[in-house]
Amino acid sequence: MATAPAVPHHIAIVMDGNGRWARRRLLPRIVGHQRGVDALRRCVRACQPRGVEVLTVFAFSSENWKRPPEEVSGLMELLGKAVAREVPEMQNNGVRLRFIGHLAALPEGLQRTLAQAERDTADGDKLTLNVCLNYGGRWDIVQAAASLAARGEAITEGALSGALALPSAPDLLIRTGGEQRISNFLLWQCAYSELFFSSYLWPDFDEAALDEAIADFAARERRFGKTSEQVQGGA
Ligand code: FPP
Repeated sequence: MATAPAVPHHIAIVMDGNGRWARRRLLPRIVGHQRGVDALRRCVRACQPRGVEVLTVFAFSSENWKRPPEEVSGLMELLGKAVAREVPEMQNNGVRLRFIGHLAALPEGLQRTLAQAERDTADGDKLTLNVCLNYGGRWDIVQAAASLAARGEAITEGALSGALALPSAPDLLIRTGGEQRISNFLLWQCAYSELFFSSYLWPDFDEAALDEAIADFAARERRFGKTSEQVQGGA
């Protein structure tokens, strides 16, 4: 059987389960998010030796503003501090950081931290880490269509794909935390992504859990609308 390449070039992750991880330990939810940052660092380190070249993570959705104000402000503070703290290791390891989403609505201090981190890691050529912040798949499609319309360009699949805030498509989308939905993540970009739902809560997601997802991906047949016979015949 023709299978997917052994390693996905681009992995996207819905990092779900931080709150439940904390609640099970009678800890504040923000502690779960702090452990989530540790899990992300571990995942970034694990991607490079496995040959993954792009990692895209959902850190704050357009809908997450509806959370209690203290959780939202705690997350904003955590994000700014974590990004500033992690930049030196990323520079050493050739990681290029990109922030994707409606960033203008984020606190101004955080916007400055993110812009600085993008500049400081711009030369990274081993792994691109896209962090989606104040991101929603519907927002992305609408902003892409609006930017084409403003330029008077025809709205074609190719033009719209190129105008998205994230113009590349994940090969594998992982969601942790046991839920099986996309939650307005990369709606357009995941049209042909392989989906993998992990029961691990995000803070517990480790190298073995990543390997399990990659092994599952490697056993899939990606047909992109063709028949199995065509794919196996190299069509
Ligand atoms: C979802 O779990 C997780 C989030 C909304 C936040 C994810 C953010 C991080 C892991 C920090 C990322 C840091 C950097 C530097 C990019 P949940 O709170 O919905 O968990 P629950 O479903 O168990 O309540």
